[in-house]
Amino acid sequence: MGASTHAIVISSCLLGASCRYDGGSKPVLELACARLADRLSSCGWTVAPVCPEMDGGLACPRPPAERWGDRVITIEGADVTAAYRTGALRTLDTARAIGAYLAILKSRSPSCGIGSVYDGTFSGALTRRDGVTAELLKREGFTVVDEKLVRFCEPSFEHPVAIVLGSGLGALADKVRPVRRIPYEDIEGFPAEAIPVEGHRFEVIVGSLEGVPVVVYPGRVHLYQGYSALEVTSLVRHAHRLGCRDIVLTCASGAVGDIEPGTVGLITDQLNLTGVNPLASAECVAAAEIDSPFIAMADAYSSYLAEFARAAAADAGVKLVEGVYAGLLGPTYETAAEVRALKILGADYVGMSTVCEAITAHALGMEMLGLTIVTNKAGLSGNAHGEVLAMADDTGEAACSVIMGVLRNLGGK
Ligand code: HPA
Repeated sequence: MGASTHAIVISSCLLGASCRYDGGSKPVLELACARLADRLSSCGWTVAPVCPEMDGGLACPRPPAERWGDRVITIEGADVTAAYRTGALRTLDTARAIGAYLAILKSRSPSCGIGSVYDGTFSGALTRRDGVTAELLKREGFTVVDEKLVRFCEPSFEHPVAIVLGSGLGALADKVRPVRRIPYEDIEGFPAEAIPVEGHRFEVIVGSLEGVPVVVYPGRVHLYQGYSALEVTSLVRHAHRLGCRDIVLTCASGAVGDIEPGTVGLITDQLNLTGVNPLASAECVAAAEIDSPFIAMADAYSSYLAEFARAAAADAGVKLVEGVYAGLLGPTYETAAEVRALKILGADYVGMSTVCEAITAHALGMEMLGLTIVTNKAGLSGNAHGEVLAMADDTGEAACSVIMGVLRNLGGK
């Protein structure tokens, strides 16, 4: 395992620094962020506390300020936009200087807020936009999250990490320190008569891995076996009911483009080409206990968890290729024409699972990491299940090491 050279910037107020306009009279120390910073430091990461407002030359304490259109105005009416822009540039410089790709910024503030900031009326009302620094870091390609996401994703016994194991990853189940086993037949909606395909065991393992609480599902059922989208997603609803907020979905896939078999793929997005959707009926919506099935699927795969996967892969010396996973019904492998079509559609990997589970997980508000073991070139006449399983087994260890690295970084209470 090589020395870690990863880096992160974190709003210093989240680590307890008095840098807010009120001088820190309201403590904003976020324990989940402080724990994350400690853990990453002890794993060799460079952790840089940043405060764009103080870096921009603003005093502490200072009068409250809010975004007003493209400007930032204090409650006394002073225009402090220039200071906020300077602070944003300084934060960008710091992030670049230490080689960070990930920034954890304080929510709602006119510099650091992500997606919503105070609206300039000083009434506590919010408007849907980013703070000045968050906007700049996003534009420059950083992964920018707030303390609420860090808190949400921090694993604990109440909120273990769910891991669904596809072909080749069975060995991960053996590494878990089990505290409880749940037969799949106890999972609501899981087909009672299903028998695991070779290399799968239908027993949920609740326990810990790398000291992190986990719930591991060693095997799944597939649409190509004749099961419904509701049945194939029962594991995800089960994990959610157990309290899991992070979910790792793994699978085997064929390479649509130039990716070499034996590669571990980080799924950054998906194409659901199965012809079904796990939310496409009143029964499915009721099973997921969601109000509306009209879920935005943009950004379904967690950019936060992806950063930890990149770091874990680098530490483990595993080449991680990023791409789009196309989920097809199967069970036949693709024709050459289908692979050409998939390439035009923007797919990098093609498989027969995962996409319905991903839709359900996202609808349930879970943070999702998708990893795929590329077992073969898609569309070749020699493609066969036996070879796919053999290559999945050969590459499984690399994928396991990525997952374990993610867990070490995520840590937990
Ligand atoms: N196509 C579809 N699913 C797969 C493949 C493939 O080539 N390889 C592994 N799962």
